[in-house]
Amino acid sequence: MDAHLAFRDVGGTRLHLGVCGSVAVYRAPDLVRRWQDAGLAVSATLTPSAQKFITPLTFAALGAAPVYTAAFDDPQAPTPFAHLEPGQVAQALVIAPASAATIARLAQGQADELLACQALAFRGKVVIAPAMNPAMWNHPATRANVATLRSRGCAVVEPGCGRTACGEEGQGRLADLREIHLAGLRALAPQDMEGLRIMVTLGPTREHWDGLRFWTNPSTGTMGAAVAVAAWLRGATVEAVCGPGTPWLPAGIVRHDVVSARQMLDAAASVWPSCDAGVFTAAVADFSPVPPSEHADKKFKKSDAPDGFGVRFAPNPDILKTLAADRRPDQKVVGFAAESQGLEESVRGKLVSKKADMVVGNLIRDGFGMADNTVFVADASGREERWTRLSKTGVAWRLLSWLLSR
Ligand code: CTP
Repeated sequence: MDAHLAFRDVGGTRLHLGVCGSVAVYRAPDLVRRWQDAGLAVSATLTPSAQKFITPLTFAALGAAPVYTAAFDDPQAPTPFAHLEPGQVAQALVIAPASAATIARLAQGQADELLACQALAFRGKVVIAPAMNPAMWNHPATRANVATLRSRGCAVVEPGCGRTACGEEGQGRLADLREIHLAGLRALAPQDMEGLRIMVTLGPTREHWDGLRFWTNPSTGTMGAAVAVAAWLRGATVEAVCGPGTPWLPAGIVRHDVVSARQMLDAAASVWPSCDAGVFTAAVADFSPVPPSEHADKKFKKSDAPDGFGVRFAPNPDILKTLAADRRPDQKVVGFAAESQGLEESVRGKLVSKKADMVVGNLIRDGFGMADNTVFVADASGREERWTRLSKTGVAWRLLSWLLSR
């Protein structure tokens, strides 16, 4: 599991997985593991068509319990109320893969199969991750059924594009499992950031010196990606301004890929006016090497400097400071601080010098390139806390709760 996606205990206790007949069922058992790792109990229902591709034993062996297979009137069913039970005990239903037939049943409320019955009796949030032949996905009947489900609040994890098992090209492949995993968590998470637009800067920047070489730092963007995903899980609209090499983000997050500090400033400045808060996690290069003018786009050759050479650096804009300086009073600003020493004084100093509402600081040896972090947090009201070692997803979740409480 990628460190920025390793969320635990986001809300809810149990998720029910519905599995339909599709060659993509071979990927569904992995979802059980992912949600269990997120602290959830998982149960499952396999439709009769799904059972032609995979057995219930696979899901049971991975710890899904119960695994429903029979029609609700079958004497072998684990309970006479198998058609109601998931709706009574689980807080989210995710159908992955969702076939055209099951989508049609759900759209029409046609309860002639156990999974369709369970969906009809389900009180919590429903998510479908369709998988089918591209012609079936594009058929007006499927389009109308999906639109109906969306209009009722069902979340749809769009199928991916490419070559399908039947050999055709188009949209219809089961989505990336990370998307489905996160859609399940989003269905369970509190939607306490709904209606908010959050900008996050993340990752390093890369400052080119010639056509080949650049100046940068080893930031992976994990912390910022965790903040972006946490805000999205909690219902926010998220604009992520990403430096090079930053991690995968779900399609629901608007991603702006940039390379240099100046590009990051331009991208951030263009989205900032529409945002309610900015979380500036990027490890922006404070300086750029100044290329000799004749080498800017070319490769600097050994023969260009047989006796070595010096490099001059020019300062880069401070993105946080620039955007915080002329923000509206309702816009909140969260800064980060990466220090080699004197953490607490630096955090307090940056809170003032950057005009931030809150600064989250860590020592470089505690956070850079790691899945977890030990941070010191201070806000403009004078509140200060030191958080003992937490996953970066845990830090992200807590700092957003703090931000919401201000
Ligand atoms: N930051 C920024 N633009 C820069 C430098 C920093 O937006 N050119 C932001 C970072 O994203 C972070 C905060 O400012 O939220 C502090 O960054 P940090 O690197 O800790 O400090 P600097 O401001 O660069 O100062 P110094 O390197 O001297 O500690």
